[in-house]
Amino acid sequence: MTPSASLKRIALIPGDGIGSEVTQEARKVLESLATKGSLPLETTTFDWGAEKFLREGVTLPEGALDMLRSEFDAIFIGALGDPRVPSNRHAADILLGIRFGLDLYVNQRPVKLLDARFCPLKNRGERDVNFVVFRENTEGNYVGLGGNFKKGTADEVAIQEDLNTRKGVERILVYAFEHAQRHRLTRICMADKSNALPYGHGLWRRTFEDVRARYPEIEARHVYADTVAMEMVRDPAQFQVIVTSNMLGDILSDLGAALLGGLGLSPSANIHPGKISMFEPVHGSAPAIAGKQVANPMAALLTAGMMIEHLGFPKEAGRIEELVKEALANDRVTPDLGGTLRTREVGDWICGRL
Ligand SMILES: NC(=O)c1ccc[n+]([C@@H]2O[C@H](COP(=O)([O-])OP(=O)(O)OC[C@H]3O[C@@H](n4cnc5c(N)ncnc54)[C@H](O)[C@@H]3O)[C@@H](O)[C@H]2O)c1
Repeated sequence: MTPSASLKRIALIPGDGIGSEVTQEARKVLESLATKGSLPLETTTFDWGAEKFLREGVTLPEGALDMLRSEFDAIFIGALGDPRVPSNRHAADILLGIRFGLDLYVNQRPVKLLDARFCPLKNRGERDVNFVVFRENTEGNYVGLGGNFKKGTADEVAIQEDLNTRKGVERILVYAFEHAQRHRLTRICMADKSNALPYGHGLWRRTFEDVRARYPEIEARHVYADTVAMEMVRDPAQFQVIVTSNMLGDILSDLGAALLGGLGLSPSANIHPGKISMFEPVHGSAPAIAGKQVANPMAALLTAGMMIEHLGFPKEAGRIEELVKEALANDRVTPDLGGTLRTREVGDWICGRL
């Protein structure tokens, strides 16, 4: 940290289910770094989630986006989703509202194996599984364009549009290439289904050809997404950067999480370069295990690491990753990884080593 580093203000949205349990541990680690003077950071917690929606009918409060933009440097969100809200309306309003409203077009999901014992692939180590998935985050099938006709009848028709714009596709591709350049990575793979979706994904294919020409030093190849899924399991070491559409990225990055040992170890970031960004573990609110203190907080801790790295504190972020690695190596883990520790005990152990 440089002595002049300015105070970073973090909006914490713990959310529902295990979201609040794992966010509590992320907060503890961040505040511990702040108290030790290595991170000038202040957190403010917002109670947006199912409870508030059920109580007050409010999802994302009016003016929330402007407030986040003007008063905060980053947003950390636990998870949203509650069986008492089967429509998932609050989650869509809050999560997609922030992603779309703040135009967070980059969804970055690192697939970095921290301990080979938790990789389900045979004879694969940390060197074999170390890549990043960039998922387009504001377009595709998730924009909510479509409708039902004759809903609930035998003649029902359902339409769900897949929206792709030249601007949207180009900016995520450019971000992926720029990331590769910044990190001295030499290989990029663009995954699509342009064979079956010639209009939408044809645009991806053509834009990819244009963008790759600007980065001749990077080996860029196009691979159909189904083959990418197969190759991620067969030979993950071939990948450094994968860039793809919203829905394909959603699926491929969950496969990536499985390569690491599960959702409890998978962090992510929603970024708009130069503007406020949002950081969240990949997992959901896991209602079945909520409130039991058995959720793995490591994805949330690694997510906090991504956030502070983004805010300009790579050393502190590296320290969090090192300590998660150490906790894994010492079996200081929750039941999803075969351990017996409680959520807060993992956080305590890591705070104790900081
Ligand atoms: N970003 C988000 O907020 C987000 C993402 C995915 C799902 N969801 C929501 O979460 C709810 C549950 O969805 P789901 O069951 O499909 O996905 P989920 O990620 O909540 O759970 C999937 C499985 O992984 C386990 N799991 C997840 N995180 C874990 C952790 N940290 N430690 C230990 N085990 C963990 C769960 O117990 C469950 O078996 C739904 O309402 C869904 O809409 C929210």
